[in-house]
Amino acid sequence: MKQDWDEFWGELEGEENLFRKFLSFYRIQIIARAVNYYINKYFEPEGVFVECGAGKSETTMKTRKLNRKFVALDFSGSVLKMAITNRKIDCCVNADMFSLPFKDNSVDGIWNVGVMEHFTANHIDKILKEFRRVIKNDGCILLFWPMAYAPYEIFISIIEFMVNRFSKEHFQIYPDEISRLRSRMQGREILAKNNFKSPKAYFNFRDAFSFCVVIGTK
Ligand SMILES: C[S@@+](CC[C@H](N)C(=O)[O-])C[C@H]1O[C@@H](n2cnc3c(N)ncnc32)[C@H](O)[C@@H]1O
Repeated sequence: MKQDWDEFWGELEGEENLFRKFLSFYRIQIIARAVNYYINKYFEPEGVFVECGAGKSETTMKTRKLNRKFVALDFSGSVLKMAITNRKIDCCVNADMFSLPFKDNSVDGIWNVGVMEHFTANHIDKILKEFRRVIKNDGCILLFWPMAYAPYEIFISIIEFMVNRFSKEHFQIYPDEISRLRSRMQGREILAKNNFKSPKAYFNFRDAFSFCVVIGTK
């Protein structure tokens, strides 16, 4: 898995093609605005907040920081070299989210975008347990988790299908997304099962119906 992501980000260190530039544009202009909205709605205006599986952290670019400290955490070292150039990021941590390098009850909130769908149900439970360990009581998690039939996912699938019809090499934009959500209720149930209070899930116009935003507190 780590090797897949290192290869994925390693390829992007060179020249990005037009399609990848378009995806970056979409993330910064559409998704980042929704990330800003939910961060301001659910995270306290000060404290330490960690993006677990940050990638380049492009989706943080529109966020009003106030007195928040933003940490970009990823297990791919090559992508963190790109994330650190993002003005919104205060520091980068090269670590595995199954074993976060933070003390119990030490972090004010955790968020991620397009990460949870890459794990099995069993691994998702382990990750949520780890998130719950490190966040403070009443701390919040915000997970931008793709819906199986979101327009963005359908668009990606169509592009992959078209390219694969004409290309000899298998083309795939992201590593396998094995756990996309099928409903908002499913998102709420996963958080409730992992002992997060007041689980909420939104799927709406704010990010052009790209992600289900699943929210819970400790
Ligand atoms: C699809 S990318 C999302 C990146 C970014 N959030 C975005 O929206 O562009 C998933 C990210 O999670 C990271 N990742 C996957 N498994 C991880 C793990 N166990 N620990 C830390 N990072 C991980 C990958 O390296 C990758 O950067």
